[in-house]
Amino acid sequence: MRIRVLTGAGISAESGIPTFRGKDGLWKGFRAEDLATPQAFSKNPIKVWEWYCWRRQIIGQAEPNEAHKLLADWERSHDLWIITQNVDGLHQRAGSKNVIELHGNIWRLRCTACGKVWEDEKACSKIPPRCECGAIARPDVVWFGEALPSEAIRKSYELAGDAEIFIVVGTSGVVQPAANLPFVAKSFGARIYVVNPQPTIHTEIADLFLQTSASEGLRRIDELLQSEGPS
Ligand code: APR
Repeated sequence: MRIRVLTGAGISAESGIPTFRGKDGLWKGFRAEDLATPQAFSKNPIKVWEWYCWRRQIIGQAEPNEAHKLLADWERSHDLWIITQNVDGLHQRAGSKNVIELHGNIWRLRCTACGKVWEDEKACSKIPPRCECGAIARPDVVWFGEALPSEAIRKSYELAGDAEIFIVVGTSGVVQPAANLPFVAKSFGARIYVVNPQPTIHTEIADLFLQTSASEGLRRIDELLQSEGPS
């Protein structure tokens, strides 16, 4: 079965990582434009790095949960791709290989001058971290107002277009272009399964809406897939 899964912050909520929007969301305590824009970083790189270091600390202590693990399992028996908006790397830590990171990865750095990209788990020992060329490095994530990595978005549209089942898990569906992918999949004939404790824009096009947590919702889809037999 060709299964494509769009994930958002909600899939990592059960690992103890706060989501962005909603009651206890990250954007309740902070203003996105003060922290997640290129302008905010030019104005105050230390403040932006402090926020990312705090998030790195939370993510560093988190473990993949049952939802991440189920998706990793499905990769063994299905043609499965995960398209994630998350920067936490938990899909890969759960064992998934076919992962497209639309919004970058919090463990990677990018030089603001020469563009070099590298991974550094210890970047927060001295902020702002610097590149070997001497310039300040930034988190290699996509900020508001920035373009997504072009190959990642091209491949995501291609995958959405040939999906048989397109599962949307734990995203509020308010950030584009990621939020558009389920609509593309639907228009090319995919069945749409949505897992979220709250209705979202994607509920409208869902063939199946599981109004529950990521782990419970994916467990139910796992049962469905097993009852349909191997692909
Ligand atoms: N299981 C599944 N879904 C959950 C759970 C859970 N346990 N808990 C919360 N959710 C749902 C919420 O109902 C909400 O719809 O997860 C969604 C989280 O939405 P957002 O916080 O908006 O996260 P996301 O959709 O990933 O945000 C997109 O916005 O700020 C940017 O770059 C950031 O990648 C992020 C993008």
